[in-house]
Amino acid sequence: MVLLVRIVGCCCCWTVCSSMDHHSAALPSLLLLACLAGFSTSETGAGGSVGETSYGPSSVEIDGVNVVTVGIPYYFECTASCFPGCKYSWTRGNVTTQGPVLSLQLLHTMPTETLTCTVVNTATGGSASVQKTLQVTAGPSNIQISGPTYLTDGVASTFSCSASCYPSCSYTWTVSWEGQQLSSHEGESISFAPYQSTVIAETLMCVAQDTVSHLFISTTLTRPVASVSGISIESPGTVTMGKTYAFTCNVACYPSCSFTWDYMGKTFQGDQTEIPILHKGERRKFVSHQDITFSEYSKIEHLTCVATNSISGASINTTVELTVIDPISVRATSEALPIAGKSFSLQCVGSQNPASITWLKNKQPVSASQTVHFSPDNVTMTFGPLLQADDGSYQCVVAEGEPIIQSSVYEMQVNYGPSSVVITGVDTMTLGMTYEFECSASCYPACQFTWSWGEETSPGPKLILQLEEPEQTQNLTCTALNPTTETSVAAQKTLHVIDGPTNIHVRGPAFLTAGVESNFTCSADCHPSCNFSWIVSADEQTLLVAQGSTISVDLSANASLSDVSVECKAQETLSHLYIENNLQLQLASLSNINIAGDSAVAIGSEYTYRCSAVCAPSCDFTWRFMGKIFEGDQLDLTISDYSKIEPLTCEAKNTLSNTTITATVNLTVTDPFSVRASSQAPPVAGRPFALLCEGPQEPDSITWLKNKNQMLASERVQFSPDNTTITFSFLVREDDGLYQCLVVEGENRTIHDNTLVVVVEGGVPNLSVGYLMEVNYGPNEVLIEKANELPVGEVMLVQPGSTTELQCSSQCFPACLITWFYQGTTLSTNASISFTPVIPPYAAALSCIASNPVTGQNGSAMTTVEVPDGPTNVVIGGPAALEIGVTASFTCSAECSPSCTFTWTLYGGTMTGSVIDITVNRHVSSESISCQAENTFTGQTATANETLSVSDPHWCGC
Ligand SMILES: *[C@@H]1O[C@H](CO)[C@@H](O)[C@H](O)[C@H]1NC(C)=O
Ligand SMILES: *[C@@H]1O[C@H](CO)[C@@H](O)[C@H](O)[C@H]1NC(C)=O
Ligand SMILES: *[C@@H]1O[C@H](CO)[C@@H](O)[C@H](O)[C@H]1NC(C)=O
Ligand SMILES: *[C@@H]1O[C@H](CO)[C@@H](O)[C@H](O)[C@H]1NC(C)=O
Repeated sequence: MVLLVRIVGCCCCWTVCSSMDHHSAALPSLLLLACLAGFSTSETGAGGSVGETSYGPSSVEIDGVNVVTVGIPYYFECTASCFPGCKYSWTRGNVTTQGPVLSLQLLHTMPTETLTCTVVNTATGGSASVQKTLQVTAGPSNIQISGPTYLTDGVASTFSCSASCYPSCSYTWTVSWEGQQLSSHEGESISFAPYQSTVIAETLMCVAQDTVSHLFISTTLTRPVASVSGISIESPGTVTMGKTYAFTCNVACYPSCSFTWDYMGKTFQGDQTEIPILHKGERRKFVSHQDITFSEYSKIEHLTCVATNSISGASINTTVELTVIDPISVRATSEALPIAGKSFSLQCVGSQNPASITWLKNKQPVSASQTVHFSPDNVTMTFGPLLQADDGSYQCVVAEGEPIIQSSVYEMQVNYGPSSVVITGVDTMTLGMTYEFECSASCYPACQFTWSWGEETSPGPKLILQLEEPEQTQNLTCTALNPTTETSVAAQKTLHVIDGPTNIHVRGPAFLTAGVESNFTCSADCHPSCNFSWIVSADEQTLLVAQGSTISVDLSANASLSDVSVECKAQETLSHLYIENNLQLQLASLSNINIAGDSAVAIGSEYTYRCSAVCAPSCDFTWRFMGKIFEGDQLDLTISDYSKIEPLTCEAKNTLSNTTITATVNLTVTDPFSVRASSQAPPVAGRPFALLCEGPQEPDSITWLKNKNQMLASERVQFSPDNTTITFSFLVREDDGLYQCLVVEGENRTIHDNTLVVVVEGGVPNLSVGYLMEVNYGPNEVLIEKANELPVGEVMLVQPGSTTELQCSSQCFPACLITWFYQGTTLSTNASISFTPVIPPYAAALSCIASNPVTGQNGSAMTTVEVPDGPTNVVIGGPAALEIGVTASFTCSAECSPSCTFTWTLYGGTMTGSVIDITVNRHVSSESISCQAENTFTGQTATANETLSVSDPHWCGC
């Protein structure tokens, strides 16, 4: 038997380890070795029964820890029940070692490690093995706390702890101050606010423990607590302007604070002094001193001290109220009130020895002016006189070395008025009506008002007035009194008192017309205004009720009425007093015109027509027939002239309104005889022509009339045997005229003409429809004429550049078409032209042709247009030499338009004519002749000279 002693102290060893504050990696392995050493010494106890037969291995066991930490060496022993002896071997992964003890030191973390112990009986060779699985841990190490660098009073801060562990770590925290634990917490991070009684700093400890090995490691961190509290200012409370005061700001602050002062909007940085800690755990006290000199006056001012923590930036502040006393003040020099227009003085009081005094009004400097004067030392400011505009806040500024002090304020309110007294309200009052009047004035202080009218008075700015007695006018007076200046001013208003509306007028047309809108306007004098209402009535019957100053009346539905009343009532809007007026009008109506009588009529018979219309009050009737006018509602008419259809018109005119309506009947004349040309060709002078008398029946006799005169046969005019045809062998212009046939029929007979049945009596001569003959002729006598002058003739002389009004006249019916030709081209197709010659040539043909489109005949006129020119090119023709006693002939020629006359000069005399004969009788060697050509139209001249030699054939020289 082998006595086995179990190692049980290992856990105990670790317990000791755990209780230590700190541990190192070396220490546990030393302890473990010590434990194993103890084990080795207690192994002495062994026993067995000798001689027994071999057995085992059995009860194989592995002794050792279940958890191993990386880096620490461990020992494991394998035991077995075995005889006579056994061999031990270990397998760890693919490594096998011999012997009962296995030494193990892991270098890396891994989830688990498995150890196998195999025991072999050396005698029998039997074997047995056993396995042990180890948990592997690492750490903890590298512990670290992270978080803010300070704690803030009353604010939670978060810190976190980290460490290296395998497989994992758990964290516990403790917060302490000066060894006294304040709180504890579990978890990776902690969030906490500084403990209330902790004032300077707090210490955080984090313990990280491996969750498997339970080995642990810890670290601590101390953080200051930033705080600022308990601020106060030490202040004298009351200060005098111009003096300097020290103020102290106290505050409890850790670790340090900066200070800022605020006074009247100005900021000062405080100089700082630190006071040492009084007691452990108490906040440090800080103070700040500030010197302030007061120079601006204000009764109560606020001084603020702001303390700012230098690490957290948190700030607190406190404010004290300072009562500022101003030793300088402004006062009036007298008891009298400041009154506009009077003199008034202010004085700067309280200064001992001023270097200078200046004055401010509403904080702006005051300078001397016409009304503001200063005493030489500026102590007194005098207003002479005081103006309303001098109202304001006055201060004096005193310089007594440094600083400059502003005085307290004198508020000047100038007393003035009354001025601008005004009464508002109506100018016209209606009796019995209530009116309000108001009186205003410019015053300080407020004025007192008194009203008076007639014998009565009333106080106050407002007056409610109602007049009962009719009076022509009323004077209303308002008196404004300033009780301070004891001045009063009155205003007056004249009121017109009236008794309701007046002067009503109704305006509109003189009569009404049925179916036509008529506007009526009503006007009246009203105060303040009137409402107008209307009643339109007839025969005690109301036709229309309306409102407004203008109404529109249309009585188309009441056309049968005659007398209408249009009444207007003007009523005052406030008093309801009213006035009325009306117009009495007649109503004009006109409609339904009608003509009664036959519409089918025969020539020569008499017919009666009646015209009627619905008309009020009455109508006049006018008839129109064939250009004639007849008066009266009845018309007796005898049809004497033929026209197939002729309108008969009746016009009815209303005697009141002058409006008219008309009616027309078309009278159809049933007499059917007429004259017409026998052919389509138009009547042309010189050609034959024939007219026919046509009717539905053979007449008893036919007589031909021209222009109502009976026609007789002649050489040129022939009648057919039954007189139905009249033939002209050729026409002349004098055949123009109205041709009719007068037909006389015998027995009574009935003529059917469309739907009419008319009885025509025999023996009655009936005149036919006429034929108006207009003979077409021409052109005859085509002439070119100057305007209002005779024909131009064969030659027309015109000046170059001149304009001549020309007309091509011709005798034509119908009017001829005219074409002008000049120099061979068409000039115009108008009968009249404005003619300007074109030069050269100085002579050209101008012609006009007249053509008649009906007769197809043409005619023309021509003239030669001559433009004056020359003389040029004067030439003397004849022999070059003369013989004495021999007659020679000379001609003078020139280019002239229209013509020239010639004058010769010879022997100092003159001769005229284009040709002259000359005979020389004297003995001269040569003879001079000249010819002057003169334009007969322009009078222009040109001359040619010639010198002729003279010889004497009979001269022998003896
Ligand atoms: C044992 O196994 C590990 C990995 O399994 C291998 O790296 C090592 O070489 C092996 N050792 C031997 C002696 O075979
Ligand atoms: C003083 O503190 C109050 C609140 O505590 C804050 O509203 C104010 O702004 C502070 N004033 C200054 C000048 O810091
Ligand atoms: C008086 O006041 C005026 C302007 O306000 C200034 O210019 C002048 O120097 C003052 N004089 C004294 C003696 O203070
Ligand atoms: C009203 O006053 C005017 C002058 O302002 C005066 O002429 C008139 O007589 C006065 N009328 C009455 C009725 O007192």
